[in-house]
Amino acid sequence: MEEKNNKFYITTAIPYMNSKLHLGFFYEATLADAVARFKRLEGRDVYFLTGADEHGQKIEKSAQARNISSQEYVNLMSDDMKRLLNLYEISNNSFIRTTDKAHEKAVQNILEMLKKNGDLYKGHYEGWYCVPDETFFTDAQVTDGKCPECGREIEYIKEENYFFKLSKYQDAIFKHIQENPDFIYPETRKNEVMGILNQGLKDISISRTTVKWGVPVPFDSKHVCYVWVDALINYVSALGYTLDDENLFLKYWPADQHHIGKDILKFHAIIWPAILMSLGLPLPKQVVVHGWVMLGQEKLSKSKGITLDPDELSESYGVEPIRYFLMREMTFGQDGSFTHELMVRRFNSDLSNDIGNLLSRTMVMVEKYRNGIVPSNEGINENFKRKWNEVKDYAVICVRDFRFNDYLSKISELINMANKYIEESQPWNVAKSTEDKDIRKLDEILYTLIESLRLSTLMLIPIIPQTCSKIFSQIGIDKSIYDFNLHKDGQWGSFEGKTKLGSREILFPRIKEI
Ligand code: ME8
Repeated sequence: MEEKNNKFYITTAIPYMNSKLHLGFFYEATLADAVARFKRLEGRDVYFLTGADEHGQKIEKSAQARNISSQEYVNLMSDDMKRLLNLYEISNNSFIRTTDKAHEKAVQNILEMLKKNGDLYKGHYEGWYCVPDETFFTDAQVTDGKCPECGREIEYIKEENYFFKLSKYQDAIFKHIQENPDFIYPETRKNEVMGILNQGLKDISISRTTVKWGVPVPFDSKHVCYVWVDALINYVSALGYTLDDENLFLKYWPADQHHIGKDILKFHAIIWPAILMSLGLPLPKQVVVHGWVMLGQEKLSKSKGITLDPDELSESYGVEPIRYFLMREMTFGQDGSFTHELMVRRFNSDLSNDIGNLLSRTMVMVEKYRNGIVPSNEGINENFKRKWNEVKDYAVICVRDFRFNDYLSKISELINMANKYIEESQPWNVAKSTEDKDIRKLDEILYTLIESLRLSTLMLIPIIPQTCSKIFSQIGIDKSIYDFNLHKDGQWGSFEGKTKLGSREILFPRIKEI
């Protein structure tokens, strides 16, 4: 049981493979990654899942447009997604593709179970279907043949479908949300879901006959499973649910956090819980809903050419400055802007100036006054110790609330305090004296600076891991960033010092202001 309590299962949405990923998804992935890395730092047994949504009509159309088979197309696209996840240092433990044979088997098993439980029936669907959103809409929702969600052209379809009895679960979902106030986070999104529930739920179509690219319905081969039901199942199929080896499922389900964007709330807060209830499975503990990354004031849109390409951005700024930017500039739950001006400003002020300067000034002094050997701990600086404890306690609360902007600004307080301490304590003057008390004083100053660096770096691991690894080796700590632990390593004064500095390297050379 102890083991199960220590587990932490976190997921992102699985993006559609119909076009190249943009920065919006990498915001979601970085946010989930930062939480996953923080939980690992706390010693939790983390399982972090992401993957690719590879079925459906819009994938079929994208493949046709390129004159290749759907399978060839998704192979290329999901390989590219893996490459980008790696580039963006997303530390997922597993990657699921909805065209994996095991996943397809789980979808079929689950459809059989839903049917057996009396929750599927055959009916006729007549109404609107938005291919880019892969979503059904009623007559009343559609005006002028445009999708009410995305404003694009919408198709009128009429076909025989299987329906899932979503309406049956309306009261149970309502009750669950009331009894678990953190189930949908933040509160504004919870209210949105309550609003939908208050209007009443209709049963939903869960199969298509006009689409070929999907998981065949096992009891009726004319139909394929509706892509959204197929996609939602990834969260349990990836753990082996209904498959040969269910060990991961037994260990990690229910999910602790599903991270999603605000446009897919209904699928995760209503449809997915209803499917799980029908299966008799516990619901995820939390659905975490973030806002949009915008380019300035504009919504990202491939067709309008408003894109933020993760490759181009990483070439311009490097991946970690972008991760830092997303976590520092976005306010969780709200939309936020990416602009090159803001990006450059953050880069220069926080990374080059505050962190970069503290590291290089400290290193230069340890080299010059102590031959590159970090002094040992000579007396605790109580002000710094107090500040550090404040930072650490506050960080835990920020991660609980996904406020990484506040998390990072709190760490900046410690970094700035250390930079200010250099000015105030004037180590270059203390170094002129050969008196014992001044030698000790200089040791204390240098140790305090190194300790500030070490502990700020510990807290930065979830955001800029490679940079942290470089800082640690520069201050003489050679240990994998995966081996750090907030409780063991996160005590002010626990560093013994006496390490030999590594070679100095400028982390973030300033870039020219735009
Ligand atoms: O919805 N800013 O896939 P998707 C922030 N396949 N987040 C954004 C964003 C932006 N500009 N644009 C998209 C799907 N996202 C389904 C998911 S899960 C079982 C199936 C987020 O490629 C979006 O909200 O349209 C979603 O969480 C994720 O990126 C993938 O979006």
